[in-house]
Amino acid sequence: MNRIFSGIQPTGNLHLGNYLGAIRNWVKLQKDYECVFCIVDLHAITLPQDPAELRKSTREVTAAYIACGIDPDACTIFNQSTVSAHTELAWTLGCLTPLGWLNRMTQFKDKAGKHRENAGLGLYAYPVLMAADILAYKATHVPVGEDQKQHLELARDIAGAFNARYGVEYFPLPEPQIFGTATRVMSLRDGTKKMSKSEESDQSRINLTDTPDMIAQKIKRAKTDPHNLPDSVEGLKDRPEADNLLGIYAALSDRALDDVVAEFAGKQFSEFKGKLSDLAVATLSPITAEMNRLMADPGAIDAVLRRGAERAGGMAKRHLAEIYDIVGFLRP
Ligand code: TRP
Repeated sequence: MNRIFSGIQPTGNLHLGNYLGAIRNWVKLQKDYECVFCIVDLHAITLPQDPAELRKSTREVTAAYIACGIDPDACTIFNQSTVSAHTELAWTLGCLTPLGWLNRMTQFKDKAGKHRENAGLGLYAYPVLMAADILAYKATHVPVGEDQKQHLELARDIAGAFNARYGVEYFPLPEPQIFGTATRVMSLRDGTKKMSKSEESDQSRINLTDTPDMIAQKIKRAKTDPHNLPDSVEGLKDRPEADNLLGIYAALSDRALDDVVAEFAGKQFSEFKGKLSDLAVATLSPITAEMNRLMADPGAIDAVLRRGAERAGGMAKRHLAEIYDIVGFLRP
């Protein structure tokens, strides 16, 4: 059986990039795979988080999964800290991971910035925890955004290192699933930067909780360039804002980019933005409404997470016992 594992950090606002680049694809995958979808709260605290906000965000991401169409009966939805096997396995895997591999991780270099000496061990070890997330379920496929590709390759290397060290074929090497159009949704203020939860300006992103008016406003104010829209995909070269907005339109309408470019060839941004705004509102407002409905009943969200934690915990615990036997931990 092919099994999928993926996760999103409960930090800040979920936005259009999370929806188009991740959750929407998961919805399509749940029919063909056994799916485990996690809210990775242990990863979230690699950077400082306010405890109350972390709790709220954890429920919000859960609500978003469900509102976007992930079926909590068919899939396992849980928050990472409720299954202790993740951190336990991370230790065993960490003992197999050379520092040289971790030193290559570009995300650590970006996040730690100039003050590397002050960065936490957790931030540095984060990719090992991510490998443990995946391998605790012996997942075969991992849908991730382009920015997580390097971490996933590391997870494959770690799985291979475990199999080699103990002379077993225990872990399958997890395959990345990276999706096409709009895997990378860029900032509305700067088409060269990724749309991000942590970007200071809220104008840079469309949040899943934004009202139709806010969405329309943000698209109206989105950065453009002085030219009309091009008549071919090649014409988007060196026009990151046009590329991003047309890419968002293509993803939202589930159409190919060249098809969308042909439709708006030679048009002004203002006309196109009107259409984009209508499409974004039509797609997102049912999701927002459902998220608000779910968030009004935190008890029901917690019940979904409890059930998920039981299922995930059962599977991970079984695997961890097998792993501990392989490693040689005596279980008296
Ligand atoms: N590191 C991922 C991110 O920041 C989240 C994540 C944690 C994840 N564990 C994972 C994704 C396991 C896929 C599989 O986006």
